[in-house]
Amino acid sequence: MAFESTLPGRFFWDPAIFAAEQAHLFGTMWVNVCRADDVPNPGDVRAVDLGGESIIIVRGKDGELRAFLNVCRHRGARLCMEQSCSVGAAIQCPYHAWSFALDGRLIGAPNIARDESLDRDSLGLLPVHLAVWEGLVWLNLAENPEPVEAQVVPALEDRFGELSRFQRYGVGDLAVGRRIEYEIASNWKLVVENFMECYHCAPVHPELTRLLPEFRNGTSYQGIIGKGTDFAPDIESFTLSGSGHRPMLPGLLPSDARLYYGFVLWPNVFVNLLPDHVILHTLLPTGPETSHVTCDWLFTPEEIARPGFDPTDTVDVFDITNRQDWEVCARTQLGMHSRAYDRGGLYVSNEQHIAVFRDMVLSKLGMTA
Ligand code: FES
Ligand SMILES: [Fe+2]
Repeated sequence: MAFESTLPGRFFWDPAIFAAEQAHLFGTMWVNVCRADDVPNPGDVRAVDLGGESIIIVRGKDGELRAFLNVCRHRGARLCMEQSCSVGAAIQCPYHAWSFALDGRLIGAPNIARDESLDRDSLGLLPVHLAVWEGLVWLNLAENPEPVEAQVVPALEDRFGELSRFQRYGVGDLAVGRRIEYEIASNWKLVVENFMECYHCAPVHPELTRLLPEFRNGTSYQGIIGKGTDFAPDIESFTLSGSGHRPMLPGLLPSDARLYYGFVLWPNVFVNLLPDHVILHTLLPTGPETSHVTCDWLFTPEEIARPGFDPTDTVDVFDITNRQDWEVCARTQLGMHSRAYDRGGLYVSNEQHIAVFRDMVLSKLGMTA
């Protein structure tokens, strides 16, 4: 069989390609930037970078989340410099103290109260499309995007066959039991490609393959509709020790009891479904050669509230797996500048399905490799 080629090395470090991706891929798709419960109360603000813009996500007095470009309409000062803050009833620009309501309206411009030529209605903060789906905040910088479901549902159907197989995990009803943030010394696409294949699982992930022995064959079920991975017959639970017991998520079927499902929801969420918890990775590029991952271990609120709740044995499995993954991504990043990789490498048979991701990136960029 003819092997598919990877992207050439420059796609993983060239600042021009990075900027083009920000404009044409992250700037046109729905992208998950945080959780809705990261911005819990009216007046809470979170700033994120996306598509070459800084964007603030604001919880309004009415409880709704809205997103705006993080730019004062007067002379362009950045409104919020921190990752998160709480502003009370209004967002006030620190430069000349214009203030904006939590829904973006300009409500105060000092010392020009009598100047009626100031068209306040047209000087509100500029909105960005925001949707909450399964508890996650998704932003879209396109002018008239289709609903977020139009992006994610076909991807879920491709992975699960029937949508109900995913929906019964009730991801949107779960809460964060543990969060770990990671900085990765690699281009974001290497992180996605690595998550899409399990050819590396046997050499890189002894702890994970102890729990999921099928992964030792190097097969990833990313491209196989409806297929989950069986737990090792001798483990009780998906924990580092293999022992322990936590109730199944409500809504699951007995047939879900010993299965793991993993897949990438393009462009930047890795979903891991387990009988008693869900792990979500949110990947955001921070530069051509650096990426950030927020990894959340989600449980039912009842489980988190249980006295003595301690998810460490569960968290350790993917925390160890994550660090192993980021290490090989960083190692691969080092090769991207070499003349040896000017024309890229190849995807072997267990990795052929990654070519679909490569082609999605190229088509967003309007490029051929
Ligand atoms: S730049 Fe914000 S008030 Fe002047
Ligand atoms: Fe891995």
